[in-house]
Amino acid sequence: MALLFFSEDDDPVAWSAALRARLPDLDIRVWPAIGSPEEIEAALVWLPPPGLLASLPRLRAIFSLGAGVDAMLADPTLPDLPLCRMVDPSLTATMAEYVLACVLWYHRQFDVYARQQAERRWKLHLPGPAAATRVGVMGLGVLGSATAATLAAHGFTVRGWSRTPRAVAGVECFAGQPGLGTFLAGADILVCLLPLTRETEDILNAALLDRLPEGARLIQVGRGRQLVEADLLAALDTGRLVHATLDVVREEPLPPAHPFWTHPRIRLTPHSASYCQPATGAATVAENIRRLRDGRALLHVVDRQRGY
Ligand code: NAP
Ligand code: GLV
Repeated sequence: MALLFFSEDDDPVAWSAALRARLPDLDIRVWPAIGSPEEIEAALVWLPPPGLLASLPRLRAIFSLGAGVDAMLADPTLPDLPLCRMVDPSLTATMAEYVLACVLWYHRQFDVYARQQAERRWKLHLPGPAAATRVGVMGLGVLGSATAATLAAHGFTVRGWSRTPRAVAGVECFAGQPGLGTFLAGADILVCLLPLTRETEDILNAALLDRLPEGARLIQVGRGRQLVEADLLAALDTGRLVHATLDVVREEPLPPAHPFWTHPRIRLTPHSASYCQPATGAATVAENIRRLRDGRALLHVVDRQRGY
């Protein structure tokens, strides 16, 4: 079986070595040197150009190098084959680490101190205990539940929100539209870890931000198209939100003239919140390739109707 590898962000050499360590006979074709398209039966990809997967006539399964598959689902030529997303301990751990770092930064008022430094102002703000800071995590899936649990273990008061009811130890859980208002009202820091779907596009809008406590902060690590950017700027102007950390934006890379670059109350990172290490991610992919070879059910198959 030949496997196509395509990613402009991931290292094909490291991935090939990690996969061969588990499946020594695997024939890996790194794009664009793919040889005969008829020989490719599986694809391991991140942001493949639209049409690439459709050009492989004997493809049997698609494995995503990322957790979110919205970009692939948006390709109208995407073949109707099992599409498996990445679920991996390094992806989960790095997301929890990123969000914890941001929450600590806010809890210890580093955003306030950054503004004070710009004004050469020396003023102490004594922090309360971690439990006094309420963090709301939107999305309680693989990444959201691990992130919420990490924050709770650190002493923060954590609540979570999902489409269907979920239980996470130490986290107060809410679900669906009926639970959204109460969830938001108790989130001093809102973390978005939702997949991008028809329901979650533009979900971070003025109406939602208005339901947060005055002076809340936002950590957006889901997908850029979930945030209505003009509504964020307006909420920062009025003080409804005091700061936002954005790891994802509607257009990536962010265009040079975009107001987010220089906004004093926005901190940007370049879609770097979490990443999958080949050493561990290859275990998931190798297991799915074994399953594909044996005709067994694949792991982490995306529900295309649901969109994640
Ligand atoms: P997941 O396991 O599929 O979990 C998704 C969660 O979102 C589930 O709890 C789901 O609810 C909830 N959800 C979906 N639609 C909803 C809706 N309409 N209303 C309320 N809750 C909804 O996904 P994951 O692995 O945790 O990844 C989440 C997302 O993180 C990815 O899709 C990707 O966009 C983003 N991500 C970003 C980075 C980065 O570096 N910035 C890295 C990795 C992933 P149910 O539990 O009821 O199904
Ligand atoms: C990254 O954004 C991912 O979806 O894994």
